[in-house]
Order: sequence, then C-alpha cells, then structure tokens
Amino acid sequence: MEKDLIIPTHVGIIVDGNGRWATKRGLSRSMGHREGANNLKKISLYLNKLGVKYLSVYVFSTENFKRDEKEVNYLMNLFVKMFKSEFQEIMDNNVKVVFSGRRDKLPKDVVEAMDYLKEKTSNNNGCTLNICINYGGQSEIVDMTKKVCQLYKDGTITLDDIDVDFVNKNLYQDLPPLDLLIRTSGELRLSNFMMFQASYAEFYFTSTLFPDFTEEEFDKALEEFNKRDRRFGGKK
Ligand code: IPE
Ligand code: IPE
Ligand code: MG
Repeated sequence: MEKDLIIPTHVGIIVDGNGRWATKRGLSRSMGHREGANNLKKISLYLNKLGVKYLSVYVFSTENFKRDEKEVNYLMNLFVKMFKSEFQEIMDNNVKVVFSGRRDKLPKDVVEAMDYLKEKTSNNNGCTLNICINYGGQSEIVDMTKKVCQLYKDGTITLDDIDVDFVNKNLYQDLPPLDLLIRTSGELRLSNFMMFQASYAEFYFTSTLFPDFTEEEFDKALEEFNKRDRRFGGKK
C-alpha cells in the first residue's frame, strides 16, 4: 500500500455475498456466514491497525428476518458465539463496541451478549465498532422521530433546537458521518443502510463476495477513496 494515504474517519461495510460464496462451493449458506464472520474479524483488526476511528458493519437488516428460520437461527447463534470468542481480542485492541438497531425481535441471549460487550468495552478509547443488527435506516429515522417528538412533548426542547446535529445525536449512535461506504458482492444498493449518515459518503462497490474480501481488497478501496474529489457541494 502507498504511504501517506488519507485514512477515512468512518468506514461502513455492507457485508454481502456470504450465501453465494457458500452456494458456489456446494456448502450450506450457514457456512458462508461462518466464513464471513471470520473475515469480518480480520478486516476489522486491519482497519483498526490502519487507524480508522469508526467502523460500522451491517450484519443483519430488519428485513433479514424474512429469511428461513434455520438461517436466521444460525446467524443469531453465530453472533452470540463471536461476541464471546472475540471478547478478549476486542479488549486487547482497546475497541469500543456499540450496537445500532432494534432490540425487540432479537433473542434474549443475543441481547445479553450485546449488553455485556457494550458495557465491558464502554471505557475503551480506541476504534469504535458499531455493529448494526436488526438495523434498518428507515426504522432508525422512525425511532429518532418518536424520541424527538417525546422530548418536544415533555417541553425539554423547542422546534428551534431541531437541526442536523440534533437529529444525528438522536439516532441510534451519535457518530461522525460515513466517509467511505463499501458493499461487496456486486449489488449496487443501500438495502436500508444508514441513509442519513451516508449523505456525503464515497461509495465503493466490488463484485468480490464478502468472505473473499481481503486486506488487499480494502487497500484498493482506500486507494480509490483517495482519488475521489470530495466537494460536499462547495468547492469546484
Ligand atoms: C450477507 O450475506 C450477510 C447477511 C445479510 C446476514 P448474504 O446472506 O446476503 O449473502 P447473499 O447475498 O445471499 O450471497
Ligand atoms: C443487506 O444485504 C443486509 C446486510 C448486509 C446485513 P441483503 O443481502 O439482505 O440485501 P438485499 O436483499 O440483496 O437487498
Ligand atoms: Mg445478500
């Protein structure tokens, strides 16, 4: 990798293509999820090493509950297993873990493992890993709206208090905007991921399936990001 590249502050990854990766090999979709999870660990550690401060990973959408019960159960168990097995490494790397998404509908053991990880890492001050589970960008805006309406109703805020910063603070997490948004597997869509936060993100799409998305592939995304002229609607 070239030296002196600008490292994006906030990277988002839409983890996609696990199922196709497995099907191509004659394996069950679950095996693709297992491989994807192992790869996500590798990529997260790499981004941490590069100095990325915020990493948001989309691992289960509100719509993914439409999938077969067997696949959903496998994913839920995989989350619990990963949160437990990676705990020590997360601590050793000083990573703070937060979660975005609706907690309702998630099995109790998943919520407990999430709470444990969040609480134990809350004083870490390295990279923030935002894990998006049962996450939907639309639900996030709905939930934010309800929260803000309640604050207004209580008399805690007035209409003039509501601006972009205020909205951002009342989303699931108060994070800086996305700088680089990566989606693997060749799909060219957001699939309900962080619309608000992605307003000025640079998009990087690759046909590589997520289990095959290596550190070198991330380097390519980073080099591409460095070639982009980010204007934010201002300078010509
Ligand atoms: C991404 O892989 C993981 C989740 C959405 C949970 P997919 O399961 O969507 O894999 P494809 O898109 O079917 O290949
Ligand atoms: C988006 O992937 C959700 C996650 C990566 C968690 P999907 O595979 O669910 O998206 P669609 O169905 O192709 O839009
Ligand atoms: Mg998919």
